[in-house]
Formats: sequence, C-alpha cells, structure tokens
Amino acid sequence: MTKTIHDLRLARRMSRLGTETAFEVLAKARTLERQGKHIVHLEIGEPDFDTPGNVIEAATEALHKGWTHYGPSAGQPELRQPLADEVARTRHVSVTPEEVVVVPGGKPIIFFLMLALIEEGDEVIFPNPGFPIYESMARFLGAKAVPIRLREELDFQLDVNELADLITDRTRLVILNSPHNPTGGVQTERDVRDIAAALGDRDLTVLSDEIYSRLIFEGAHHSILSLDGFKERTVLLDGFSKTYAMTGWRLGYGVMRPDLATHIARLMTNSNSCTASFTQIAGVEALRGDQSSVESMRREFQRRRDVFVAGLNRIKGFSCRLPKGAFYTFPNIKQTGWPSKKLADALLDDAGVACLSGTAFGDFGEGYLRFSVANSIENLQSALERIEQWSKRNL
Ligand SMILES: Cc1ncc(COP(=O)(O)O)c(C=O)c1O
Repeated sequence: MTKTIHDLRLARRMSRLGTETAFEVLAKARTLERQGKHIVHLEIGEPDFDTPGNVIEAATEALHKGWTHYGPSAGQPELRQPLADEVARTRHVSVTPEEVVVVPGGKPIIFFLMLALIEEGDEVIFPNPGFPIYESMARFLGAKAVPIRLREELDFQLDVNELADLITDRTRLVILNSPHNPTGGVQTERDVRDIAAALGDRDLTVLSDEIYSRLIFEGAHHSILSLDGFKERTVLLDGFSKTYAMTGWRLGYGVMRPDLATHIARLMTNSNSCTASFTQIAGVEALRGDQSSVESMRREFQRRRDVFVAGLNRIKGFSCRLPKGAFYTFPNIKQTGWPSKKLADALLDDAGVACLSGTAFGDFGEGYLRFSVANSIENLQSALERIEQWSKRNL
C-alpha cells in the first residue's frame, strides 16, 4: 500500500455500517483456490443458472434500438406498467404504475426506504437470523435495531407474541422476509394474518422483502400486502435477481404508496439517476415472455434441496429442516459442540467446502450454518462427502 500522509477521517456512521460475509468468504475461498486447493462453493446466494436466452436477446435488441440513454428516475413506463400488473395479479390488490419504483436490484429499496423514513432513535424490527443488510442499514442511520428471533421449532417463523412485545411507540419499520434468507422458511397465510393482527392499525411501515417469491417448493406465497388495511403501510420489495437468474444485471423494484414513491424516486435522482434503460426493457421480456425457465430452475433447486438435506441429516451432529422456499439450507449444528463460525472456517480450511456461519445473519444464527444449493448435484454430493469425512475425523 502507498504510504499516506493524511489520516483517513471517516464519518462516524461508517463504523456502524455492516457487510455481507458471503463476499468475504468467497474472497477467502478464491485465495485458497489460487494456492491449489479445490473448493466446493456453497457460500454465495445467487442462482448458478444463466439468464434465460429470451431476456438476453431482448437486452441486446434494446441496446441496438438505442435504449442507452437516461430514463425517468422512477423507472421506464414500459416496465412500471407490467410490474404493476404482475404485482396486482400475484398479490390480489390493485396497483398503478405510480406505485412502482424501479431500482438497480432489490437492495436499493432497503437502502432508500430507510433513508426516507428513519430518524435517529427510531426502532426497526428485523428478522434474526436474517439478511444482514437490514440491521446494517438500521444501525448506519442511528436507529435502534430490534431483532425478532426466528425459531426453528416454529419452522423458522417468528413468535407473534414476541413480536407484539417488541413493538413500541418508537417502532417505525417492521421488516418481513418470505421466502426467507437464510432459513428457507415460508410464511403461511395464517402466519401473515397473525403478524398483521399483532401490528394492528399502528402507524408504522412494513417492508415485505419478497425477492424469493417465485421460489417456493411447498405451499403458496402469501404477502401482507394482500391483507385489508396493509397496502398503504406496506412497501413490497421484489426483483429479477433470483427469479430470472439476473443478479449481475441489477434490476429490482419496490411497490408503495404513490407519495412515498416520489420520494424514493428523488433518492434515485440523487444517487443513480436511473436504472440502466436497456436492462429495464429486458425486464419487460422477462415478465411477459416464456416463464418455463423460472419453473425449471425452481424444480432443479427443489431436487438439489432434497438431496442435500437428506445428506446433511446423515452426518453426525447435523440436523436440517426441509426449507420450503429460496435456495438455502440452514442445518442446526449444535450437536457438534462447535461454534458456528469456527465450524464454517474449519469446513473451508480443512474440508474445502465454503459455507456461511449462521452468525453472519445475526446473533440468533449461532448454532447453524448456511449452505446454498445453487450448485450442481455432483458438487453438492461431493460437499456432503467432504463434510462427512471431516466430521468422522473431528467429532
Ligand atoms: C432477502 C434478500 N433481500 C434482498 C436481496 C438483494 O437482492 P439484489 O441482488 O436484487 O439486490 C437478497 C440477495 O441476496 C436477499 O437474500
């Protein structure tokens, strides 16, 4: 590193900004690979499939047709209308294009919504274990981050009585995520109704992160957005990353009351200007074109889930529920007697299997590991063998 004369003086808030451990584990795994080690990658949360061909063709055509300029900050009307139609159809509510804001991926909805709503000292209730960005952003903005524990014995749902106890006059935002990263838990209709009853008619906002809504193996997707009295108070987050294997394209959206949408669009004007225009036109094709690749990816994830969970349950010290959605498995490893982080490190260093410690998703992730099944059956089987051999040597 070059020697610097001046100290780097960061704003204090930067010390409160968290991260996603997945990217760090990936970097460490790549270093081991450069040293000649063979690693099975089960750490990163992205589909291993290619983006469907019709979507790639639509993007190429859009580029040739000149969709290479700035567009409206809230998104191209060509995409906002089909998104409104899609959300109206799948969540059984009326949605207008003015209620849709297109952003570069699902993450910016979390970022912008919190920037727009949260004051210092406000309370944000978020699932724990859960996607680490919720807590990171809440803390960054000086909010009190209030974890609600997801309980394995409740199939990784929250206990509504605990939720009711956590709500105070300072609660500004309640975050829900179904299907859930990292546990694969899926809210039933009953779960959603019970949560809605606990929230009552309080003046707070619900962020419903439904980025895995098309990846469900058992049951159906249920959104709080569909319930009476919740549309006005709910911001839906969804996107193209997981459903259409488009993580690198950066295309997501939020659905919210139109007055809030104009403020989120203003944050877009101040940051990104707009989401890349040709990717939005490709998004129209993704939504309106052939959906068979969505279904074939879903079925393949289910097949892998079945193989991997059955394999994990044969390994000493591991027990794993069958996740009902998304593409993660979240085995309980308490019987190994190892702390999660130490076990995840040992599996990477000694067995060549990259996974994440449950604690990468918050304190209540202790006692669990997360393995993504976004890898081939052969690689998943090879990972199982390696973990089994490792456990025979070490447990
Ligand atoms: C629960 C959850 N929400 C949001 C995102 C962000 O998705 P995107 O890549 O579209 O920003 C992810 C990605 O891993 C996720 O797991």
